[in-house]
Amino acid sequence: MKKVGFLTSGGDCQSLNATMRATVKALCDTYKEIQIIGILDGYKGLIYGNYITMCEKDFEGILSLGGTILGTSRQPFKQIQRLEENGFDKIEAMVRTYNELALDCLIILGGNGSHKTANLLSTKGLNIITLPKTIDNDIWGTDVTFGFYSAVDVATYAIDCIHTTASSHSRVFVVEVMGHKVGWLTLHAGVAAGADAIIIPEIPYDIHKIADLIKRQKEAGKNYTILAVAEGAKSVEDSQLTKKEYKEKLKGLPYPSISYKIGEEIEALTGEEVRITIPGHMQRGGGPNAYDRILSSRMGSAAAAFVKEGMFGYMVGIRNHELVPVPLYEVAGKLKQVDPDSAFIKEIKDLGIVFGD
Ligand code: F6P
Repeated sequence: MKKVGFLTSGGDCQSLNATMRATVKALCDTYKEIQIIGILDGYKGLIYGNYITMCEKDFEGILSLGGTILGTSRQPFKQIQRLEENGFDKIEAMVRTYNELALDCLIILGGNGSHKTANLLSTKGLNIITLPKTIDNDIWGTDVTFGFYSAVDVATYAIDCIHTTASSHSRVFVVEVMGHKVGWLTLHAGVAAGADAIIIPEIPYDIHKIADLIKRQKEAGKNYTILAVAEGAKSVEDSQLTKKEYKEKLKGLPYPSISYKIGEEIEALTGEEVRITIPGHMQRGGGPNAYDRILSSRMGSAAAAFVKEGMFGYMVGIRNHELVPVPLYEVAGKLKQVDPDSAFIKEIKDLGIVFGD
């Protein structure tokens, strides 16, 4: 008899359910008797002992269902480590819940922040296996995360739709794409949807270079311009500030997000009419695409194999199309960014797409 817990943590994404379904399918194929515990609402459920007993049937019919059937929450690593006012220790509480449930292992589907907590729990002796989820694709140790390519589809569709209206009105559009501190989603959607400029945090932009592009396009007879801008994009000047200085600066700005600042500056420099579009959480919503369903099926199968082999303290990663175990201590605390000097960026620059540098 095996007793396996599941927990989904951090911002949701497409394919969380598909990944749990695959893991459960493979586990049930291996073990005659298995008990499944669903920890509710991420680490919160582990801290406060909120869970449900589940069976294989609960994971049927959810391959194409977005979100997570377990619920999720954000529990920042810093806060998790801090004692509550009454002295309640959240880490101790998580270890206690795990032990009281007598789990053989806990499978955590999480992003960057969640991996820090997963690694910590692993160092406390819990048998942890993780699966890399996020639309941001910023988890170190894996070429791709599930959720990413589904979000690329949504962001691509959003930019696709903008082409016709931008062209009809001869406007400049800034489409703000999610991705937190990295530009993977903006880069991929921008290329897929034919954006004229792709502005990402890894390549600080000079607003004059973007304005020049707009003027050049107009002179060449193109009456509209589409800029795919990552929510974490930074100007050359801002990229020279410390993290703290930049945070302070942002607080003082009258814009809800960076796109509005870019939009206003472009209007001033070019005299063109600018509109801002933000697809926002739509990018995380809905069901997984075919690519993610396949990736989730493979990763879930690998996670079940890790359980069988007693390989704990690892994330299931994918490198060069092969599934690989990645030690949690290597993943925790790192960020996978777009390499500005990569062949990919060079190829896209060679198409004439402007990055603002
Ligand atoms: O990490 C996924 C993500 O969608 C980021 O791209 C975005 O910055 C953030 O989550 C939004 O978080 P929330 O759902 O808490 O608003």
